[in-house]
Parts: sequence; structure tokens; C-alpha cells
Amino acid sequence: MKKILVINGPNLNLLGLREPELYGAKNFKALEAFIISTAAELSLEVELFQSNHEGVIVDKIQAAYGVFDGILINPAAYTHTSVAILDALKAVALPTAEVHLTDISTREEFRRFSYVSLYAQKTICGKGFDGYKEGLEYLSSVL
Ligand code: DQA
Repeated sequence: MKKILVINGPNLNLLGLREPELYGAKNFKALEAFIISTAAELSLEVELFQSNHEGVIVDKIQAAYGVFDGILINPAAYTHTSVAILDALKAVALPTAEVHLTDISTREEFRRFSYVSLYAQKTICGKGFDGYKEGLEYLSSVL
């Protein structure tokens, strides 16, 4: 069974509470349950990881080398700022899909650029929870 590391970045743990008009009313536990059931349907093994800290996310990506077959990441706000997360993804060089609940291309100007997109082989935006499904399907198709 292929192993996927699913990383959720800062403030995604506050789903449900956080700007529900943008991110929806369902909470983070519901997102995690959705990812787990989708992975099971696709016969993928997943580990779920969430952190509000850039360096902790970098450490987790580094530790994925030799352990996981692919990465699904919603870097949240670090999408638009983190060269360190981009470099970590490039260093371990695992197949990577990037997902965003909202369509970052139609939001504020500062959200339109993604460092992570410079490495990720697939980016899915604006599809809510279903974007995680699409990301897992993509990884399953390439692994
Ligand atoms: C997000 C979009 C980011 O711009 C924002 O900072 C987030 C969530 C999304 O899933 O739509 O925290 O990655």
C-alpha cells in the first residue's frame, strides 16, 4: 500500500470556526474523517499532520524522505510566503499535490502566488474538501 503524508498548515485546525463564508461550516475533524475515508477507498495509507509552525512543517517534510511515497499539502498562508517549505519539498523530491479549499487565484492579490506550486506536480483550488480527494486520486494515479 502506498503511503501518503497529508499536511495541513496554519489555521486549518480552526475550520468551521474560521471565516465559514469562505472555508465552509464543516470542522477540521470532518476534513480529517473525509481524507481518511477517501484514502481507504483509494487503498492508500495516510498519515495526517497539521501544524501552525513553518519549521515544524519543514521538519515533517524532511522526515518523509524514505518513509512516504507522496505528499498532499495545503500549506495555508505559508503557500504565499515560504521558500523554506518549497525547498524542503524539492529536497525530498516526492510526488506532491497542493490543495487549497478556496480558489486562491480569485482572492486577494497576495494569495495569487504560490511558492509550493513551483514544485508541486498538481495544484487543486476552490473545490473545498473534494480538492483533497482529487489530490489523493492524482497521487494514486502516479504512484
Ligand atoms: C488556503 C488559502 C490560503 O491563502 C489561506 O492562507 C489559508 C487556506 C485554502 O485552503 O484555501 O489558510 O490554503
